[in-house]
Amino acid sequence: MTGVNRGLDGVAVAETRLSTMDGEAGELIIGGFPVEELADNATFEETLYLLFRGRLPDAEELSAFRSDLAECRAIGDEVLAVLRRAAEEEKPAMDALRMGAAAANLGTEDGDPEADALRVVAAFPTIVAAYWRYRVGEEPIEPDPDLGHAANYLYMLTGERPDERAVRGLETYLNAVVDHGLNASTFTARVVVSTESDVVSAATAAVGTLKGPLHGGAPGPVLDMLKEIHESGDPEAYVREKLEGDERLMGFGHRIYRVRDPRAAVLEAAAEQFYDDDDDFFETITDFENVAVDLLAEYKPDRDLETNVEFYTAALLHGVGVPQELFPATFGIARVGGWMAHALEQLEDNRLIRPESRYTGERGRSWTPIEER
Ligand code: ACO
Repeated sequence: MTGVNRGLDGVAVAETRLSTMDGEAGELIIGGFPVEELADNATFEETLYLLFRGRLPDAEELSAFRSDLAECRAIGDEVLAVLRRAAEEEKPAMDALRMGAAAANLGTEDGDPEADALRVVAAFPTIVAAYWRYRVGEEPIEPDPDLGHAANYLYMLTGERPDERAVRGLETYLNAVVDHGLNASTFTARVVVSTESDVVSAATAAVGTLKGPLHGGAPGPVLDMLKEIHESGDPEAYVREKLEGDERLMGFGHRIYRVRDPRAAVLEAAAEQFYDDDDDFFETITDFENVAVDLLAEYKPDRDLETNVEFYTAALLHGVGVPQELFPATFGIARVGGWMAHALEQLEDNRLIRPESRYTGERGRSWTPIEER
């Protein structure tokens, strides 16, 4: 065995047609499209179709795909019971999503990976919205078959039909973050199905991976940070205090990108429209970004720490009206499209993913009976 690569940097364990990044140039391609083009133009259903089937649908195919999704959007009473309990105990939304996702094979007799994958993708917004309704002391709202995926999520959160601008803002977000190479949660999903386990198990494990603050858990803390700075008006003092205390600034740094994450620009442009001229919160956000990037370069001169996707995720989702507690789960609503497409791709030409570890423990111990320890 050669040396240990603790974070698996630079190791390719799969071939994929789904997405690729150039970390030096700051480019992201999803299903053949630059992220900028896909995010701004596609509905989320078109993006899902693109990932699942490898090309854009025509109008008839899109309409059939939308109906297929609509048919599996509802969730059963047993799932609602778990979500109610999670909400009553004030468990985080990601825990509720993991528990809800795990129940997605109840009441089905499929075992057909593509049908299961579609059902998981369709159910995610319903699960998150139902949990949220319980959290705010309301009953869940059933999905509306006339609304698309993004619109349904907003509708099920509030009970009100969302306006076009909010739907477009959310779709831009969902498209921009649907897939991103072999990030930690997608890797998890591929590892799970590589054992010939099922796609529902893959989605459940991937939710657990996405939950962590080094992956999908950053945008909530980013919003807290932005609110604090908006109040204090002193971004420099905030950043210096964090960096001098050896803390990480949420929303900055990335394993792949050495330059600004290309999704940051997409989300920044989409977010700006939600903040009108007499609301200087957006100005706080952009000013803070500039100060943070300059100070990260000062404190960590040998690192290229630039803005990552989570920074403007906070600004956009806040603008769209998604509750802060649901930011990571909303990331899951997008990324599950990528997880499921990767899981299906892995199954097309599967080989068990099974790396190695280097043993650093003891050897040659001899057993001591318990009464002698
Ligand atoms: N603030 C301050 N310092 C940082 C930051 C940051 N945001 N990110 C990395 N660093 C520093 C580390 O302290 C380390 O410095 P050192 O070598 O002097 O100790 C160096 O940069 C390298 O850090 P690693 O953790 O090895 O880099 P890695 O590639 O593993 O980190 C990560 C990537 C986890 C995203 C990191 O940049 C981070 O923690 N960022 C903040 C959390 C965040 O924004 N998460 C969302 C990520 S985007 C996504 O998952 C969709």
